[in-house]
Amino acid sequence: MAPIRTARTKPVAAPAAGRPTGLPRYTLIRRGTIHTAADSFPADLLIEKGKIVQIGDVPPGPGMLIIDAKGLEIFPGGIDVHTHFELPFMGTVSADDFETGTVAAACGGTTAIVDFVIPGKGQRITEAAKAWHKKAAGKAVVDYGFHIALVEATPQVLADIPKVVADGITSFKCFMAYKGSLMIDDTQLLAVLAAARRHGALVSVHAENGDMLSWVMEQLVAAKKTSPRYHPVAHPALAEGEAAHRAIALAAMAEAPLYIVHLSCMEALDEVVAARMAGQPVFAETCPQYLLLDDRLYEKPGFEGAKWVMSPPLRHVSNQVPLWSGLREGFLQCVATDHCSFRFKGQKDMGKGNFLRIPNGIPAVGDRMNLLYSHGVRKGRLSPQQFAAITATNPARLFGMYPDKGTIAVGSDADLVLYDPKKTGVVSAKTTRHNVDYSAFEGFRLNGLPVLVLSRGEVIARDGDYVGGKGRGRYLARRPFDLAHWGYR
Ligand code: URP
Ligand code: ZN
Ligand code: ZN
Repeated sequence: MAPIRTARTKPVAAPAAGRPTGLPRYTLIRRGTIHTAADSFPADLLIEKGKIVQIGDVPPGPGMLIIDAKGLEIFPGGIDVHTHFELPFMGTVSADDFETGTVAAACGGTTAIVDFVIPGKGQRITEAAKAWHKKAAGKAVVDYGFHIALVEATPQVLADIPKVVADGITSFKCFMAYKGSLMIDDTQLLAVLAAARRHGALVSVHAENGDMLSWVMEQLVAAKKTSPRYHPVAHPALAEGEAAHRAIALAAMAEAPLYIVHLSCMEALDEVVAARMAGQPVFAETCPQYLLLDDRLYEKPGFEGAKWVMSPPLRHVSNQVPLWSGLREGFLQCVATDHCSFRFKGQKDMGKGNFLRIPNGIPAVGDRMNLLYSHGVRKGRLSPQQFAAITATNPARLFGMYPDKGTIAVGSDADLVLYDPKKTGVVSAKTTRHNVDYSAFEGFRLNGLPVLVLSRGEVIARDGDYVGGKGRGRYLARRPFDLAHWGYR
């Protein structure tokens, strides 16, 4: 494949008011293969003012920026609906902020993220949301939205739900784990599910039984079993399956839809399958780490296993085939990253001598698209349409961004990633854009790389390098959750 050629047919006239300086009036992407969640077809794409205005056979015209996409595969820009940038957590702050995190996202083909606002106990969720707006504004380089974690269901929190929904925050997360800090009980979860439903918001859960986890943790500590290899022991799949079952039952009682984040194992997948087969609107995401890594990594010598300490933990390798199948069969709708990065030296090592103090999370936002393209599409585990669906279309539909985001259609934002299937690479800490000193996916081979990434029509990444402006990302005020998108009334 020849290098990407971009050329203007003629010097471009001064931009019209409202368009950032330097952006051509029209961009024409010629001769690529377009993949949406529904179809794959060869076509040209014409972009004007950040939107797709024509798809088909488009002749080049004066003043157009022409991108020759012959041999390239064009997908909707990725949407990662699970990130934690600049998150105060477990005695430290996650290493990627909205600038480094979204630059990494952009270089890896992701053009929108949804990050979790996590309020302190007693803090109004409206105030916490303001704090997150401050962290992101002027720093994020891709478009961004927020979920809010509801760490308590006080009358004030419930009363503030419609206020944040009006601000475009139309999804919440409840933790069934992290006992003593973020965890809420079933009574509170029911109250949240009912209130969210009334206001058109979607509740997601971190499904692990926090009581079971702390019971095991206490025994491990008493037995001085405190190295990283005991982290998965303290987070058994049984506890994830139980919490998924309970969350689904509570959602059924509240007649509310439910989304399960970072689903890692068959025990939880079985619950989702059963609920969906019974007609309940239950949705779930998994993450690249659960599809591609497994719990043998905790057996690495010394403290190295700390690199993969996250919740839920990596599971036995036998879970991977069912998770891929769950995606292919539509039981799982999204792959997000749960990107929550901590440096190995200086952050993860806070837990040397006690795995309970290792900050939980891994870096992944920049790797998700490339890993799924190479190890999903190119290995025949996912069709290109399924890749578009789980990385962009479904997240957009579930989280109130569709059809502005998540698809390639006339009227949609020109958020696009162009893959060259012939380019190869290897994931490595040496080349990562994440603000950390290791890669969770070190050595993973990539067959096909994103050579161009466009956000609202602007080229923001080229051959893995960020080439867009500083802080150009816009806040995404998201629409309420709509069951009709999923065929439910
Ligand atoms: O280990 C994880 N997942 N860290 C981030 C917080 C969460 O539970 O999503
Ligand atoms: Zn979680
Ligand atoms: Zn998370």
